[in-house]
Amino acid sequence: MFLKARILIGEIYIMCGIVGYVGKKSVVDILLNGLTKLEYRGYDSAGIAVSVDNKIEMYKEEGKLQNLKNLVEPKKDYLKSSTMGIGHIRWATHGAPNTINAHPHSCTCGKLVIVHNGIIENFKELREELKNDGCVFRSETDTETLAHLIAREYGKVNNLTDAVRLATKQINGAYAICVMHQDVPNTIVATKRNAPLLVGIGQNEYYVASDVPAIIDYTKTAVYLDDNQIVTLTPDSMKLINSFSVELQPHIETLPWESVSLSKMGFKHFMLKEIHEQPSIIRNLLSGKIIADNQPIKLDEVKLDLDTIKKLDRIQIVACGTSLHAAMIGKYILEDFCGISVDVEPSSEFIYRKTTTNDKTLVIGVSQSGETADTITAVKQSKKQGSHILIITNRPDSTMAREANSLIPVNAGIEVSVAATKSYMAQLISFYLLALHIAEIKGSIESAKLMALKHGLITLPEKAEEILDHKKLIQEIAKKYANFKNFVFVARGLNYATALEGALKLKEISYINATGYPAGELKHGPIAMLDESMPVLSIMMKGMVYDKILSNSEEAKARDARMIALTNSDDEKLNDLFEDIIRIPDVDEYLSPIIAIIPLQLLAYYIAEFLGKDVDQPRNLAKSVTVE
Ligand code: G6P
Repeated sequence: MFLKARILIGEIYIMCGIVGYVGKKSVVDILLNGLTKLEYRGYDSAGIAVSVDNKIEMYKEEGKLQNLKNLVEPKKDYLKSSTMGIGHIRWATHGAPNTINAHPHSCTCGKLVIVHNGIIENFKELREELKNDGCVFRSETDTETLAHLIAREYGKVNNLTDAVRLATKQINGAYAICVMHQDVPNTIVATKRNAPLLVGIGQNEYYVASDVPAIIDYTKTAVYLDDNQIVTLTPDSMKLINSFSVELQPHIETLPWESVSLSKMGFKHFMLKEIHEQPSIIRNLLSGKIIADNQPIKLDEVKLDLDTIKKLDRIQIVACGTSLHAAMIGKYILEDFCGISVDVEPSSEFIYRKTTTNDKTLVIGVSQSGETADTITAVKQSKKQGSHILIITNRPDSTMAREANSLIPVNAGIEVSVAATKSYMAQLISFYLLALHIAEIKGSIESAKLMALKHGLITLPEKAEEILDHKKLIQEIAKKYANFKNFVFVARGLNYATALEGALKLKEISYINATGYPAGELKHGPIAMLDESMPVLSIMMKGMVYDKILSNSEEAKARDARMIALTNSDDEKLNDLFEDIIRIPDVDEYLSPIIAIIPLQLLAYYIAEFLGKDVDQPRNLAKSVTVE
């Protein structure tokens, strides 16, 4: 059977960040700082378990991490002497995000505690079995099952590492876990399968975390765990074994990271700061790659030579969310510039059907985090089928990047706001560089066009700056439309993906029902919704489809829709048709998606800000989706 069986774990889907420490320092602040840096992975509840005088104590609170910090604050003096602990930040789509379901979870006697990122798919069966054995369950989570399971094994073998090893053999699904046991002092055991986990190494101390930012303030030396490896940490030792108990030599790496600044640099929100970083991100990405209009693009990261490129019969791009929209633009330009047929598919769809990628397919995985479970699976499946894997990611140290034959790091810097802005920009620029690079190797683009595009790319940062300098107008338009309940974004061609991304930004942070349509499709159904309660934003870039969108906009106006234009045209006709016009600098039609998205990011931002929404941490979302 080709299709993998997919088992939803009852009512609960969990995706989270974990952190752990064992050493000589006071642990509470290390855990809370680590969780602060992992808040992008979820913010439904948070908790820590620490060892105090060889007794385990747990503190958990639902809601934002700040609630846990408030709970722990008065106890800090009392907890000062604790030098070992584990912490967790949770994101749940089903099942109450309450204190009972918050991690850590413990076994019946409370001596064994665990934090977990992932899903235990067979937890229901195990839960029944463990209940029959007398285990007392307190929460609805799959994680608690694992606490009881490991405790049961511990009861048999009296060795925590072995108990974790034997218990994880009985579970299906994805997990990264950290475990402590009251009877095993100064020891943390951690392991993972299909979820990220790394161990940071200090002086007589070890850290464990789902991601680098949680530990980079303390150490730059780390070991990334591979699937099914189990690590046992004490202040003075790290022992790594595989699932057969064979001891392994840890592969120690130096993390190519600076301490992560979480400063808003004077901006009200991270999202606004990140939008403003875009001109310099474009500049940095182009620097050293486009040296002059008449010189070849330097993209040494891409390990595709002429022979390999000639053999390619298609390109398959897989991605999710905002990265998927960047991929749609990637398809358009790769097909146009390189003459290779390109498919784009959401990773979550790609992985559950019979696909035909092979050694003549270039498979491109696009992901800000490099940890999106569906995209990782899609890439791994294609790799098995012999495809060359090219990864475009903001995290060259991620799980996905480790699968790459070619890797384009987009270097946008850490993105804190859950709604992706600057990473989208960096992905777009990377796609343009890639498409032009392949076209140049293949000779599939006219040299005058190639030179014009290279020149056009270099001029983009200034144009992006110009848009940001005029953000006041967008702020005013945002105020005017903030109380509408629905929004339609229309465009054609390349900018259809811009319409989708503009609508997604608005949905994500303001919860307004915004939808992107290809303008030509409006009359095939969506037009029925239009009336004076529905703003329609038309993305009208000069070029092949400009007049077509103009007609489509007329059709919408005739149904009384409130019309807004985003355009690089100074066409007088627009003044009659549109109530509000956002003008952006003139740019080649091919490059227009790069700057057209900026006003839409600002529009979404200002609407959400005006409505008083939690811009950087919108409800129900998480930045990194590490479960399928
Ligand atoms: C989540 C985030 C989105 C992001 C998507 C894909 O849903 O909230 O902003 O676009 O995941 O993430 P990736 O890291 O693979 O780009």
